[in-house]
Amino acid sequence: RNHPQTHSCSLMEQYDLSANTVIDDPRALTDKITLIRDAGPSKFQVIADFDATLTRYRVNGIRGQTSHGLLQQGNEYYDAKRQALYEHYHPLEISPVIPIEEKTKLMEEWWSKTHDLLIEGGLTYDAIKNSVANSSIAFREGVTELFEFLEKKEIPVLIFSAGLADVIEEVLRQNLHRTFKNVKIVSNRMVFNDDGQLVSFKGKLIHVLNKNEHALDMAAPLHDQLGVDIGEEDEENNVYVKQRTNVLLMGDHLGDLRMSDGLNYETRISIGFLNDNVEKNIESYREAFDLVYLNDAPMWGALELVSRLFSTEA
Ligand code: TMP
Repeated sequence: RNHPQTHSCSLMEQYDLSANTVIDDPRALTDKITLIRDAGPSKFQVIADFDATLTRYRVNGIRGQTSHGLLQQGNEYYDAKRQALYEHYHPLEISPVIPIEEKTKLMEEWWSKTHDLLIEGGLTYDAIKNSVANSSIAFREGVTELFEFLEKKEIPVLIFSAGLADVIEEVLRQNLHRTFKNVKIVSNRMVFNDDGQLVSFKGKLIHVLNKNEHALDMAAPLHDQLGVDIGEEDEENNVYVKQRTNVLLMGDHLGDLRMSDGLNYETRISIGFLNDNVEKNIESYREAFDLVYLNDAPMWGALELVSRLFSTEA
């Protein structure tokens, strides 16, 4: 008698993990593309995580740095203290057993202590520039082209990060060699005094557990955070972002899907970059994201997608 057929084929056989893209439901994706295309670029925005989403997970074979990770204050004592905090809190950040309320408190603690050390250590803007110049951080290939395409179509890109806005901006400046007027960063923003030393942080502290909670609300007072006068036009832009109810969301964690929580979106296409523990995570990523990119894929897929959405638009 034959044993019933078991379905024990490995994930390697189910999906071609050597390929870059996994799409759970190609038809649903096509339907979303049609809906978004029909609504036009004025209804569309892009929301992206920064670390390991816009940037590569590996750079020259080693784990790429984050906006926090690359920062060297030029003062070994403070760098070592921040590193010690990382070693204490990072395992708590990724622990699956700590209840969320408790973890939120711990993350607030970590971020405040780190911010205090940066202030106490007298971080300067020059130190940020030098840190970025010496860092191992790199954008995925195609990020510039993606931003350029979106800029031409006047489509806003919101980058959400629990890292450091000023560092992220410097990374953009040094690595993309230009700024984009459609790209806004929602992250922890520094205040420097006239001597170029960090004196405080602006606005609400954004840590890894609250960044997605009210992400779009955090984007609303964006101009406050940027220290820019809110002119009528800017205010309209903020409203504008909330009215762009079709969205392309990009992240590298399942939690990043919550970045669009503050938006009452109509149609959302989500892209997940699965960078690590691929076999263990592929199922959940495949179910959660419309498109999953593996193998530290470049941004060409996202560019192709937005070109498909709006290439024929004026
Ligand atoms: P995000 O890039 O997903 O928004 O999260 C920021 C990451 O920064 C988070 O995984 C923890 C990390 N981090 C550091 O590496 N050093 C620090 O000092 C702090 C506060 C956070």
